[in-house]
Amino acid sequence: MRAIMLHESGDPDVLTLTEVDDPSAGPGEVVVDIAASAVNRADLLQRQGHYPPPPGASDILGLECSGTIAELGEGVTGWEVGDQVCALLTSGGYAEKVAVPVGQLLPVPGEVELVAAAALPEVACTVWSNLVMTARLAEDETLLVHGGAGGIGTHAIQVGKALGATVAVTVGSDERAERCRRLGADLAINYREQDFVEVVKAEYGGADVILDNMGARYLERNVDTLTDGGRLVVIGMQGGRKAELDLGKMLRKRASVTATALRSRSLEQKAAIVEDVRERLWPLVEQGVVQPVIGEAFPLARASDAHRALEEGGVFGKVLLTVR
Ligand SMILES: NC(=O)c1ccc[n+]([C@@H]2O[C@H](COP(=O)([O-])OP(=O)(O)OC[C@H]3O[C@@H](n4cnc5c(N)ncnc54)[C@H](OP(=O)(O)O)[C@@H]3O)[C@@H](O)[C@H]2O)c1
Repeated sequence: MRAIMLHESGDPDVLTLTEVDDPSAGPGEVVVDIAASAVNRADLLQRQGHYPPPPGASDILGLECSGTIAELGEGVTGWEVGDQVCALLTSGGYAEKVAVPVGQLLPVPGEVELVAAAALPEVACTVWSNLVMTARLAEDETLLVHGGAGGIGTHAIQVGKALGATVAVTVGSDERAERCRRLGADLAINYREQDFVEVVKAEYGGADVILDNMGARYLERNVDTLTDGGRLVVIGMQGGRKAELDLGKMLRKRASVTATALRSRSLEQKAAIVEDVRERLWPLVEQGVVQPVIGEAFPLARASDAHRALEEGGVFGKVLLTVR
């Protein structure tokens, strides 16, 4: 099969198609004929040599895919050859085929097209596990999502609204603010022009839950924005990894800070997240309440252009890689 395997780290041009052996389905796995994959920020870091895959994972990039089951491994039940699926991967999505543990498979939901379904697994599992399973976002609470126009942000807006929360986002331009409002955000703050702490406090008295992609640069201001009992969940370090935390403020507010990563979790933990997503989020996707948001799509052979697009910024939603 053809795949994008990382032979050396560097700029996007290191991403070229090569011929590699087809994967086979181990016990508890299926092989998926991939229709599409998607580009994640972690892929950019991995390409640059800053984010090696976990031990045992292949050197083929790609954390999610959609496609059709082509082969069942030993002991697999509940799935058939020919089923249309999408999947959370530890690696291997930038290819024509991938072997996937069954616990990381999801059916392609209702009205969603097979190719578009590749935009869902990573954002769905990340947003659901953090907002619902970790932060316990409740109806009538206020959620602040940083980077509202990105892949994660566009999904988090829809999930937050579906759960009955008030959703505020930060974005880099007024045009992106308008698009986030059209997607359901109640408030969109241009981080280049406004101070999100002031705006969120003035509008809502603070945020009960914050989903943060910036890490160190926003830590202090995020804590200032939290309400009493507020929960800050850090999932990205686009603004650095080390900062000072004022425990006095945390203590007075009875606030919590959690930092999580999806990729490094065990098979069992990933399967538990996928199961909860299937049970509780997938019905919302089936009903069209939560939809994939796709900003751009490139054929697999143009993975380097897809990386450049995400790196340069300005894409609204996900960047897809189409395989067939
Ligand atoms: N921990 C996990 O398990 C996990 C899983 C998936 C993703 N992530 C992380 O989540 C983050 C978002 O991922 P993604 O797929 O949505 O990436 P993406 O589509 O590239 O979006 C990145 C976002 O960052 C925003 N941004 C840049 N500078 C900002 C600033 N100063 N303040 C607020 N926002 C700013 C951008 O906003 P504008 O374009 O509007 O400027 C853009 O919306 C990344 O850091 C990624 O690594 C973590």
